[in-house]
Amino acid sequence: MILVTGATGNVGRNVVQQLLEAGEKVRAVTRNPENSGLPDDVEVIAGDFSRPETLSESLKSVDRAFLFPVFGQLGGFLDAATAAGVEHIAMLSSSAIEFEDPGFIGQVHLECENAVTGSGISRTFVRAGLFMLNDLGWAGQINNGGVVRTAYGTAAAAPVDERDIAAVAVASLLSPEDGAVHSLTGPQSLTQIDRVRIIGETLGRPVEFEELPREAALGHLSRHMPPDAAEYLLDQLASWQGITAEVLPTIEQVTGRPAHTYAQWVAHHAADFS
Ligand SMILES: NC(=O)c1ccc[n+]([C@@H]2O[C@H](COP(=O)([O-])OP(=O)(O)OC[C@H]3O[C@@H](n4cnc5c(N)ncnc54)[C@H](OP(=O)(O)O)[C@@H]3O)[C@@H](O)[C@H]2O)c1
Repeated sequence: MILVTGATGNVGRNVVQQLLEAGEKVRAVTRNPENSGLPDDVEVIAGDFSRPETLSESLKSVDRAFLFPVFGQLGGFLDAATAAGVEHIAMLSSSAIEFEDPGFIGQVHLECENAVTGSGISRTFVRAGLFMLNDLGWAGQINNGGVVRTAYGTAAAAPVDERDIAAVAVASLLSPEDGAVHSLTGPQSLTQIDRVRIIGETLGRPVEFEELPREAALGHLSRHMPPDAAEYLLDQLASWQGITAEVLPTIEQVTGRPAHTYAQWVAHHAADFS
């Protein structure tokens, strides 16, 4: 039995689906089982990392687990997993850990990794780079006038498809390798301007990019995330201007098939952009 935490999330839902396709028995933990929307053949069970006493039940007969990094709250889960005899954990983490300035995001994920390492349970860390999914934040602007307005249009990254992050986690659960660290990027270095162009081409309608000054972009982003997070994101984008982002071969090496391109990701999410 494989337990999937964060099973209702962007990555977790794909982990559940791919484990089912591989013929595994899957249990999912969520704070709201009645609204999970997970497939019928998944055993869905209530659990909350902030109330560790709710987690023991979910770990009965579990030998492997996909762990979502609930910041500062892994201790209770790891104690319960140790008591239940869990043999391997694959945890979603962040490649921000490897940045010259890991910032808040790198720091909290490193603390999660250290907690898992400290538990002594065999583990794999799946360090994801920038999610393609973040660009769904542009959907409103695309639908209301077809112009994406943000700062640092020439900032380049190699964003990664959530299905590929899940695939690496699933491979890590099916063939556990203690201590493995998989750092993931998507297959192409793309600026924000490139990505807006690809969205328009893939959806078959005009979408344009308009450069905003940093302060204006900060005001816009701060409506969707805490101001600190918005500042951090803009600092990252500023430092990525004019670079060619590193593209790592990890996804193909681990899964045996190429990573999804940005155009494939847009096509997969066409309904979300409409
Ligand atoms: N966005 C990026 O570019 C990027 C890049 C690298 C890494 N990351 C990292 O990836 C993660 C986000 O992944 P995602 O998009 O798949 O997440 P998500 O869609 O936001 O889902 C969050 C999941 O966590 C679960 N959860 C939260 N608090 C919980 C608690 N107290 N107890 C039990 N479950 C809890 C939620 O379950 P319920 O609500 O069902 O209980 C939900 O399934 C973050 O750690 C982020 O820092 C993001």
